[in-house]
Amino acid sequence: MKGIILAGGKGTRLAPVTFAVSKQLLPVSDKPLIYYPLSVLMLAEIKDILIISMSQDIPHIRRLLGDGSHLGLRITYAEQDEANGIAEAFIIGAEHIGNDSVALVLGDNVFHGHSFQKILHESVDDIEGCVLFSYPVRDPERYGIGEVDDSGNLVKIVEKPVDPVTNRAIVGLYLYDNAVVDIAKNLRPSERGELEITDINQVYIERGQARLVDFGRGFAWFDAGTPDALFEASQYIQVIERRQGVRVACLEEIALRRGFISLEDCLRNSEPMRGSAYGQYVLSLGEGSPM
Ligand code: DAU
Repeated sequence: MKGIILAGGKGTRLAPVTFAVSKQLLPVSDKPLIYYPLSVLMLAEIKDILIISMSQDIPHIRRLLGDGSHLGLRITYAEQDEANGIAEAFIIGAEHIGNDSVALVLGDNVFHGHSFQKILHESVDDIEGCVLFSYPVRDPERYGIGEVDDSGNLVKIVEKPVDPVTNRAIVGLYLYDNAVVDIAKNLRPSERGELEITDINQVYIERGQARLVDFGRGFAWFDAGTPDALFEASQYIQVIERRQGVRVACLEEIALRRGFISLEDCLRNSEPMRGSAYGQYVLSLGEGSPM
């Protein structure tokens, strides 16, 4: 399976900060926002990753993540200068996807919860159709909202409903078989002129090929696209990390534990970060830190 992180957009809801820095590079607690979606793909054992962003932002993201080889990954980059819609990722990324299945994660989504890795592993195996994930929210009018029948099957998704009938948000992590590329190429722009991810998902629903996995209440999910959400995500991650003494979305740790890199590589990566608590944590991995 290939991975795509969609990290474009102007970040208008975070202006003026985003006049100079892309949203996905802003800190959530002690690390850049983009570490969180990248960690999701790594936990799913996906190593071949395309990052799509605005041409002005790619040099900065590249400075942070390079070609990914220090993490045992292969990271490439592609430009999207106009926010033509989330579904455009599959057109821009068609060559990267090739004949494979693909996981798309939005560059501003933060996930954390019990059994997340297990859920990911179960979901990426032999994918046929698509797998979507939902999460209960207080403000359903801000998201794509999934409607299910009595058996829990997904029957419809409504993008930002004015009168939501459920509070089940479809989160920014989507798994598809290879058909997604053709579906995306045949999409028409919506009224707001975008290729909507919800329209792709609706095609899979109509084909009877959409599976919905609910993260449920014991899970945390943030769409960190506003100052409040960015701040809340930071607070949440800080509390978890302080209480447990472990780090969420520490890329070096995941790469080490998944066997993508050796301990030697990991310690070498920590060198330029020695002065930070994050770097010290990476350094401590050599001493057999907690799981
Ligand atoms: O976060 C989950 C929600 O994400 C879903 O529930 C919705 O169904 C989905 O449409 C999306 O809603 P948003 O209102 O969050 O979409 P937004 O336009 O803000 O785009 C999400 C991220 O993707 C944002 O960080 C910018 C980036 N993006 C967006 C578009 C439209 C791009 O990089 N390129 C684009 O063309």
